[in-house]
Amino acid sequence: MGPFTPFERQELILKFCDAIEANWDELCLLDTLEMGAPYGRSRREIIGRLRFCAGLATALHGETIATSVPGEAFAYTLKEPVGVVGAIIPWNGPLPATIWKLGPVLATGCALVLKPAEEASLTALRLGELLLDIGLPPGVINIVTGFGETAGAAIANHPDVDKVAFTGSNETGRHIVRASASNMKRLSLELGGKSPHIIFADADLEAAARSAAMGVFANSGQVCCAGTRVFIEKPIYDEFVARVAEIARHLKVGNGLDPATEIGPLVSGQQLDRVVGYLDIGKREGAEVLAGGGRLTEGALGKGFFVQPTVFANVGDSMRIATEEIFGPVLSAIPFTEFDEVVARANDTRFGLAAGVWTRDLSKAHRIAARIRAGSVWINCYNIFDAALPFGGYRESGYGRESGIQQLEEYMQVKAVTIQVG
Ligand code: NAI
Ligand code: MG
Repeated sequence: MGPFTPFERQELILKFCDAIEANWDELCLLDTLEMGAPYGRSRREIIGRLRFCAGLATALHGETIATSVPGEAFAYTLKEPVGVVGAIIPWNGPLPATIWKLGPVLATGCALVLKPAEEASLTALRLGELLLDIGLPPGVINIVTGFGETAGAAIANHPDVDKVAFTGSNETGRHIVRASASNMKRLSLELGGKSPHIIFADADLEAAARSAAMGVFANSGQVCCAGTRVFIEKPIYDEFVARVAEIARHLKVGNGLDPATEIGPLVSGQQLDRVVGYLDIGKREGAEVLAGGGRLTEGALGKGFFVQPTVFANVGDSMRIATEEIFGPVLSAIPFTEFDEVVARANDTRFGLAAGVWTRDLSKAHRIAARIRAGSVWINCYNIFDAALPFGGYRESGYGRESGIQQLEEYMQVKAVTIQVG
């Protein structure tokens, strides 16, 4: 069987959408059983993203280019799949993370070896089965389970892998960059963050407080772009922090299969130890606990990896809880006084994945959006993901973009063809 044409690829992606729709409940259940997140993923996010990629599958094309010797030479470009893609993904959202890699691979006509995280492999395996069910020939999409240091490293080092698309920690990202040198693999890296969420005094405070809280607590804080450094303008600091703490105290933490649950557990005992360790570090550093601050110890939840949504106040910029990615439900509230000052402090990080800004002043919003060094800036909202929008990092949050038309370039080679006509 030869390579699929763009129209065949489009048809295949749309069939895949139907298969996901038909197995939606099971896929959501697998995610919850594996990593605990409240049951029910966003169809718009998952299936909408694949439909977006299906549309692009037939819209990829090169260009004709006027050379410096018009009349003598004519040139055009061809877009070709980059080849074999190795995708290595984390555990914090197995269904969405797998789809984020499958969409562009299927749209561009690459082959894929995808390694899910050892903590949460089932959803990716099930998606692989669905692809075989709808007629994808075996060998095009391969789901390979295993540990990072063995299976992951084998993908990162393999001479026949042309590109690695990695989502995960900065530490592992560095290993992948080093491994890529062996055969000059292409890379796209979507790594961690310590994103600022800036609240000006003129904001809609009720909406901003909800956004600031859920910008950290959603998915128990296990989100790469969590807005964990909440900068609050001085005149509203006390009131705003009190609102956020109140929201934190009332969030329903519990079993992801309970429909009332808003926040599930952390993924593993290891992640629990890590997050509780940071809670201790914050207390030792002198930050003030306004809400939460520890594990849930009562009843059945005491046996699981449940952590209280935690708000630390009076956090200093250089504290470890304000500089290191915690990946748990831990918010640092930090006061500021002036525009230029908060821009400088927001940018004073080695990361650059996302930022949030709340203000009713349109000109201030645009000015700050231009000065923030991060791949996504959300104004009067947070954590809005859209298949049409490029998503990715500045600085140590990685390079390359996922989503949007931009991501497809990462999965394609461009070839220049020149014809002498004169
Ligand atoms: P990790 O980055 O080590 O794991 C992510 C993926 O990389 C998994 O599939 C894993 O098997 C694989 N991997 C691990 N070592 C590898 C290696 N040497 N070569 C190739 N692949 C390898 O993340 P981990 O250890 O699960 O979590 C540790 C911390 O990393 C978290 O507490 C969190 O701070 C951060 N993290 C950030 C994520 C993000 O999206 N920004 C996602 C997951 C973790
Ligand atoms: Mg690791």
